[in-house]
Amino acid sequence: MYQLFPKVNGFIHGGDYNPDQWLDRPDILEKDVELMKKAHINCVTLGVFSWSAYEREEGKFSFDWLKSVMDNLYENGIYTILATPSGARPAWLDEKYPDAMRVDAYGHRNRHSSRHNHCMTSVNYRKQVAKIDTQLAEKFSEHPGLILWHISNEFGGACYCDSCKKRFQEYLAEKFNHDIDKLNHAWWTGFWSRRFTSFEQVEPPYSNGEDSILGLNLEWKRFTTWSTNDFMRFEIDTLRKVDPKTPVTTNFMTMYEGLDYHQMMDSLDIISWDSYPRFHNDYESLQETFARNAFNHALFRSMKPDRPFMLMESAPGLVNWAPVNKYKRPGIHRLACLQAVASGSDTVQYFQIRKGRGAFEQHHGAVIDHLGTDDTRVFREVAEVGEMLEKIGEVTGSLAGNPVALLFDWDNRWAIKDAMALAQETKKYEETCIDIWKTFLRLGVEPDIVSSDMDWSGYKVILAPMLYVLHDGIGDKVKEFVRKGGRIIATYFSGYVDQNLLCHLGGFPGDGLSEVFGVISEEIDSFYPADRNHILWKDSEDTLGKRIEVRDYAELLRVKDAKVLASYTEDYIQGSPAVTVNDYGPGRAYYLACRTEAEDLAPFFREVLEGAGISPKILPKNVEYHVRKNENAVYEFYLNLGSQEAEINGICGEDLLTGDRIDGSYMLQGMQVLVVKKEYR
Ligand code: GAL
Repeated sequence: MYQLFPKVNGFIHGGDYNPDQWLDRPDILEKDVELMKKAHINCVTLGVFSWSAYEREEGKFSFDWLKSVMDNLYENGIYTILATPSGARPAWLDEKYPDAMRVDAYGHRNRHSSRHNHCMTSVNYRKQVAKIDTQLAEKFSEHPGLILWHISNEFGGACYCDSCKKRFQEYLAEKFNHDIDKLNHAWWTGFWSRRFTSFEQVEPPYSNGEDSILGLNLEWKRFTTWSTNDFMRFEIDTLRKVDPKTPVTTNFMTMYEGLDYHQMMDSLDIISWDSYPRFHNDYESLQETFARNAFNHALFRSMKPDRPFMLMESAPGLVNWAPVNKYKRPGIHRLACLQAVASGSDTVQYFQIRKGRGAFEQHHGAVIDHLGTDDTRVFREVAEVGEMLEKIGEVTGSLAGNPVALLFDWDNRWAIKDAMALAQETKKYEETCIDIWKTFLRLGVEPDIVSSDMDWSGYKVILAPMLYVLHDGIGDKVKEFVRKGGRIIATYFSGYVDQNLLCHLGGFPGDGLSEVFGVISEEIDSFYPADRNHILWKDSEDTLGKRIEVRDYAELLRVKDAKVLASYTEDYIQGSPAVTVNDYGPGRAYYLACRTEAEDLAPFFREVLEGAGISPKILPKNVEYHVRKNENAVYEFYLNLGSQEAEINGICGEDLLTGDRIDGSYMLQGMQVLVVKKEYR
């Protein structure tokens, strides 16, 4: 049990609120508080982009407005998450300190513009940020309404200026022990005569510069994360000097590719993220949209498995920046909010509480519309969620505690995308992870999502799709895991390269993994989009005689010790092994040598789970299932994402939303959410 905010009783329900845009309308500010209370809102995030309101000119600060807003909110039972305003710089700052503006991949400095485009190494920008952050901390860290610092906003992007280039070179020198030949070897720079003789020759991969050294490309991405994290830590340290006790977070974005969040998570006390699924789109079913969102929840939740995470932003109604800005249909808001909670979030927060009247986001969804009343569909749905959260408040602090985890690495994303291999259009690392993860979700066993470097010794089953890059020590970690009885499922394109992207010698998967899996992958064949092969399952109970379609990739395996579970039925690899299992100590290592629809593998996954002592569930179509636990009870969440009713069997406990007792079976209405509390006996 871990309460994120001991001061707050139950869930946080709220979102970004921008009173500084309405200082000339005290009537509106007053009405907002009244409406927030009606919407069961108990917390707002203030000041995300308020720098130009705090400091209209350099050194001339005004915080009175913030104090009076925070006081008033607090008196009305509404807490504050206070942001540092570094996400958008005032015009005076860029005018006076142009080095705060980022340089793009062609080497051009940006002009003063919108937000999120700062140079992370700029000394002047840091000085200005330190000043404003210190002022905020000094004035507000003791405010009784303050519960959390929100660092900047949605960090992202890279800067290619000379200062960042220099920092990159220093970073490389440190990494390679000031020995340029170590770098040359790691990056295989003898190829195309790319050898460097000093670190000063190594440039970031400019768009009109070096692009053939894959190790350099990868290291630049790692550096961008390092530099962003360094900046974020600088902001955190600045606050901590004044306020060592209030926790900090920053808002991550949906599987954002540009930053390896796993390298940033330890700098934060709480993980939070912004969720904007494209509901009702024309390229996937609603259930798939929900599952993709659940994958993200699991990714962020798993970054700190010992505590709940926060849903920092989500849209009431709709966003305004998507190719098609479609409204969430009635009931979807409730399902999306409760999905976050079911996945381990202790907050449901929105962007935004009130719509801004002008500029970029004037048509973005908000709890309070330009209409200015509680009499809108969106408002009513928000208020309904607020009420529901109050009813299930005891769930806060409980955790997921899942027995299965999927390995997901940013390095792997970057390296696979950049690899001159496979078929460019179908590499799909992320999609492959999501597909496999979704299949387990459908089996009622929702995997956590961890990086290969995190601790996964406590899980019973590890899923390792396309683990192309093996960081140092991962081979041993897998061995140890399986030797202690763990089960692991790896796939094609695993263990090909080390952390600098040098190929492993002596057979893939490398770093000792071919011994664990009992196979060596000799070839990987890429398919044209219409190419197909099939695999046929041999002698397991659930899969016997089952023929499954193969697309995109098929490896030719040499089996050393493993047992063959399925073989290819066509082409030059006909009859050769496609799925294998190797008993390694008390554990088992499964290898899937080809890509299939993950759903077709559900019977196989079910067997693996059962073999590991985990019982999968049989869930009605369109019903999503999640579990949270604390020392007193298990909370089961059933989300009916379809419009048809669905019968759930084998269910008993208290319906937390109604207080009714459920014994045996339950008829879930279309779009209904059920939260069942089962106490331990
Ligand atoms: C987020 C951002 C918010 C707001 C929102 C609109 O990415 O953090 O400030 O712009 O998008 O959907």
